[in-house]
Amino acid sequence: MARYYFSCPEVYFGEQAMTSLSQFNDKRVGIVTDDFMVSSGKTRYLINHMPQAAVCIFGEVKPDPDIDILTAGAARFKAFKPDVIIALGGGSSLDAAKGIKVTLEEYFADHHIDLIAIPTTSGSGSEVTAYAIISDPQNGRKYPLISEHLVPDIAILDPNLVLTVPRSVAVDTGMDVLTHAIEAFVSTGANDFSDALAEKAIALTWRYLPQVFNDEKDIAARTHMHNASCMAGMAFNSAGLGLVHGMAHAIGGMLHIPHGKINAMLLPIVIDFNSKQASAATRDRYHRCAQIMGIDHAIPEQAIMLMTQAIRQINRHFGIPATLSELGIDRAKIAKLRSALVNSALADGCTASNPRQATAHDLEGLIDQITG
Ligand SMILES: NC(=O)c1ccc[n+]([C@@H]2O[C@H](COP(=O)([O-])OP(=O)(O)OC[C@H]3O[C@@H](n4cnc5c(N)ncnc54)[C@H](O)[C@@H]3O)[C@@H](O)[C@H]2O)c1
Ligand SMILES: [Fe+2]
Repeated sequence: MARYYFSCPEVYFGEQAMTSLSQFNDKRVGIVTDDFMVSSGKTRYLINHMPQAAVCIFGEVKPDPDIDILTAGAARFKAFKPDVIIALGGGSSLDAAKGIKVTLEEYFADHHIDLIAIPTTSGSGSEVTAYAIISDPQNGRKYPLISEHLVPDIAILDPNLVLTVPRSVAVDTGMDVLTHAIEAFVSTGANDFSDALAEKAIALTWRYLPQVFNDEKDIAARTHMHNASCMAGMAFNSAGLGLVHGMAHAIGGMLHIPHGKINAMLLPIVIDFNSKQASAATRDRYHRCAQIMGIDHAIPEQAIMLMTQAIRQINRHFGIPATLSELGIDRAKIAKLRSALVNSALADGCTASNPRQATAHDLEGLIDQITG
């Protein structure tokens, strides 16, 4: 019998969640974020909840952070020696803060730093995960660092912070949530705890992401998406992910496509692939995903096919292209990268928990499909 693990930090959520920051009022607080959060007043909103704290801001995170950002952030905080690091932003800022925190703890061997994660997108789930995705732009790779030391101590989910997320980012990140939940649900590491959270995250995302798309200021829909993102993070942190993420890290890293968008594009293709030679258990799990989305058929394979159709349809509705060619990427460029993409996807840690083992030949076929 395999050994499973489930962990979960303290989570404050809802429109008053930020008041929990008052506990850091007498601390030295380092904030890791990007320039938009500083210029749009979101760091000020945060600091207002702990007016007595000594604060130092590193506001230079860029999407898909690399090692240089971690080094620059750690250098900014070295003399300041924070007691607490608050990560404010999307998955990129949260992952950067994780890397900065562990780098700093190496400098100060005797000094523990608390990590507080405040997501401003409803997507990565990084506020509750042991993952930090760090890019290597020179080699066009993204590496998932995985360690229990990377799990934040506290997650704060304030839906007011996501109201400014533009529609296109909201749908990309929202489709990342759906992908996390479905991949966790069919993963080889799925378990009772991760299932409970994945099922709820699928239901909430399928219902409320279209509502966010229709009305970006719908605070109730934004709240449900923010909670779903965190639940999906808890689910995959325990169960693992699958081939969508394995391929997305490879393709996204080399071709610079937003993480959620490339996941959304790959999701129906990988479900088709996984469910074709699926064990009865995997087929039943995909069938259950369809049912949670309100899609059913007496023949499970038909229900799964209807689900992939519905995902393709919602992608189209959200303006997410079906193929890399549709996204404007040159076929010849992809052909040149094909074998590097295959090797990178096969080596990715997320691919290991995919319910169907993929060969290099299988991956070539899947890359041809996503190329279009
Ligand atoms: N650690 C994990 O468990 C995990 C899981 C999935 C993805 N990731 C990683 O997270 C990154 C993607 O994170 P993301 O999808 O949240 O995007 P992101 O953090 O890269 O942000 C995307 C863009 O949205 C902007 N933005 C963020 N919040 C905003 C707000 N409230 N209003 C307006 N604009 C806002 C950012 O400034 C940025 O330009 C990728 O690097 C991915 O690999 C990590
Ligand atoms: Fe993801």
